[in-house]
Amino acid sequence: MILDGKELSKRINNEIKQKISGYCEKNKQIKPGLGVIIVGDRKDSLVYVNMKRKMCKQVGIESRVIQLSANSTTDNILGIVQIFNNDPSVHGILVQLPLPEHVDEEKVLAAVKIDKDVDGFHACNIGNLAMSGRTPLFTPCTPLGCMRLLEEYKIPLEGKNVVVIGKSNIVGLPISLMLMKKNATVTVCNVHTTELQSKTVQADIIVSACGQAQMVRGDWVKQDVVIIDIGINHIQDPEHPDQPDKKKMVGDVHFEEVSEKSSHITPVPGGVGPMTVAMLMENTYHAFIRQVSSSC
Ligand SMILES: NC(=O)c1ccc[n+]([C@@H]2O[C@H](COP(=O)([O-])OP(=O)(O)OC[C@H]3O[C@@H](n4cnc5c(N)ncnc54)[C@H](O)[C@@H]3O)[C@@H](O)[C@H]2O)c1
Repeated sequence: MILDGKELSKRINNEIKQKISGYCEKNKQIKPGLGVIIVGDRKDSLVYVNMKRKMCKQVGIESRVIQLSANSTTDNILGIVQIFNNDPSVHGILVQLPLPEHVDEEKVLAAVKIDKDVDGFHACNIGNLAMSGRTPLFTPCTPLGCMRLLEEYKIPLEGKNVVVIGKSNIVGLPISLMLMKKNATVTVCNVHTTELQSKTVQADIIVSACGQAQMVRGDWVKQDVVIIDIGINHIQDPEHPDQPDKKKMVGDVHFEEVSEKSSHITPVPGGVGPMTVAMLMENTYHAFIRQVSSSC
């Protein structure tokens, strides 16, 4: 069965749109606002920011995108974060990652006001995510989107063996923490993991976020495995082998081989990607409601 992120995200975005228009009808002058900071002109980052901006427009969130040049200093970026922190019309702040290497990413993310941290990357939000009995104000959008898909399709997590491939701060680490909170037994792998296949083949659920095109093959998985494929990779389109500019988007998982054995699988595209954007809309809406309620 396909875990259809396109369909679920459409539903979530529609619900948010209705909630926002309901709120704005009663409170004419206030609208949720998202401040976005992008540094440099990486093609992939520009595409992601554009997708987020479009969805904001669609659901009724006012987005303000500030694009800084690639040679901006940490202080330049911190200046914009402070402007957004102090602006009451900006309820959520998103710093598009990755930042250029010379920038102190930790300092920038720590500067985002915690109740505007709609990407959930502030150390306090991650810390609360890691500890049992605590709830972060915001949870990172991609892992949250994966968890919502698992919930929607009623995939049990308690006691299940989950292998997470990748341990980045953005995806691998937070989703591992979220799965642990649901009492799954989580094995977190990375590029140095030895005999990865011997681990994946035992997993009830595999979450892959390593950015290696079609790495997880049919013989890496057991029958009826559940697959969450977060990876976004671009390979030469096999239908146009003679045209190097024709690319095809694929995940970390070899879809054709693995879907033969899996009980549930996310496609790429159409799985986790649209859920990430929907979770950003939801987090921004929640940030807005918290801020307008506390200022009343
Ligand atoms: N669908 C979405 O919305 C979404 C959002 C964020 C990232 N992504 C995608 O997810 C992937 C991972 O993103 P990221 O930012 O976490 O990347 P990253 O480069 O920060 O981290 C990659 C992780 O994978 C591990 N890894 C790399 N090669 C491996 C291998 N051969 N075996 C085992 N582990 C390996 C690394 O050790 C690292 O922990 C990328 O393809 C990215 O485009 C998708």
